[in-house]
Amino acid sequence: MGAGFFERLFQLLQHEGSWIPLAVVLSTAITTALSIGFWFGRYFPKGNGPQPTDSIVGALNAQIQVCTTHASELEEKLDEALAREAKNDKLHEAILDDESELWRLHEPKPPAGYSIPINVSRPKIIVIANNKGGVGKTTLTAGLAAYFEKKKKRVLLIDLDYQGSLTNWMIRSADIYIPPNQAYRLSLANKLIDGTAKDHWQAEVLRNGQNGHGLANAQLITSDYTLTQFETKLMLRWLRNGAEQDVRYNLAEILLGPYVQDKMDGFDIVLIDAPPRLTTGAIGALVASTHLVVPTILDPLSAETVGSFLRQAWALRGRLNPGLELAGVVGTMTPARPLGQDLGVPEQAALGIVNRGIREWQASTHVFNADIQDIAAIKNCAGRENPYFSSGKAGDMFDAFGDELGGRISL
Ligand SMILES: Nc1ncnc2c1ncn2[C@@H]1O[C@H](COP(=O)(O)OP(=O)(O)OP(=O)(O)O)[C@@H](O)[C@H]1O
Ligand SMILES: [Mg+2]
Repeated sequence: MGAGFFERLFQLLQHEGSWIPLAVVLSTAITTALSIGFWFGRYFPKGNGPQPTDSIVGALNAQIQVCTTHASELEEKLDEALAREAKNDKLHEAILDDESELWRLHEPKPPAGYSIPINVSRPKIIVIANNKGGVGKTTLTAGLAAYFEKKKKRVLLIDLDYQGSLTNWMIRSADIYIPPNQAYRLSLANKLIDGTAKDHWQAEVLRNGQNGHGLANAQLITSDYTLTQFETKLMLRWLRNGAEQDVRYNLAEILLGPYVQDKMDGFDIVLIDAPPRLTTGAIGALVASTHLVVPTILDPLSAETVGSFLRQAWALRGRLNPGLELAGVVGTMTPARPLGQDLGVPEQAALGIVNRGIREWQASTHVFNADIQDIAAIKNCAGRENPYFSSGKAGDMFDAFGDELGGRISL
């Protein structure tokens, strides 16, 4: 567009006939230009108002915000998963390495109102325990029960062994028959370790059998095969959620309760037969006892396990029951010989190993002078008759041991 364009326009304006179409063309051009300007301004505004990119940037920012929140949530979940894995690893190691570690995984949480340590218990509570099986725990418990009964003590026997040997043995020697429809009478220990016996005390009352060799004033908390599964369930529940009820204190709470402590109707002595493992019941027994008696066969292998068992018991004691005292280690099934005769050389050597093991308890001279010899009369009465009554010699051996134990625990 140059001078030519304006000359031409001037010529057109001089020509009257072109005014009207020219006006139409010009007004159309102006209107179109204004419209374009308006719409352009509307969609592509300038200045401080919102820019077209603002909405895109805003959307992106919102997305970034969502991603950041999501990432921190994932990070939290990852931390939780790592903590869970670490806990599981610890649990796994504890199960593989040492059963007692398992029972130390959660901080002690005594039940509300439980402030008295177990060693203020009026009756002495003795747990007969050793992680080694077949060392004479049940035989010793049964013999001691008869010894204390003879001393006119009110005895409470607690069978915490899922094998139920003491239960069968004591019930048979008292001529008690439990019909199948009363099978619950054989599993009273379950109610003890889950704490329900606190509200409803149930024990089997023993009596003299036909041969007069029962325990007429004693009571028995029975156990049977159902205890294993029951204990495992309780343990797993506690491992999963230790913050709830602390299963380790259930038995202690009951034994410190009125049924056991009452001066008139309670007991003078409680004897607990433990299983050869650190089950829920065994832990409950170590937490609930005033004294520990460890029977062992005096051979090198059995003597070695005394040390490892005492190491475990010592660790548990520190954390859960500082009042627990080691009454002592007693030799069982020692070679038969006249009463009062010294042990042979192999047994003396095993005793050396036991004494080294006892150092785990950070004390010394806890081996009983009395021992229980391996005699046929005791073997033959197993499961039928109280070993105390199986022969005069058996009675004498349990008397000697009972006297020494009574002296040690001031009973
Ligand atoms: N002094 C003894 N003389 C002869 N036999 C005995 C003597 N003590 C125990 N026995 C026999 O040894 C076996 C194991 O005894 P007992 O059941 O008392 O051991 P335990 O430690 O309770 O076993 P578990 O760990 O399985 O509970 C039984 O057959 C029992 O009769
Ligand atoms: Mg036993």
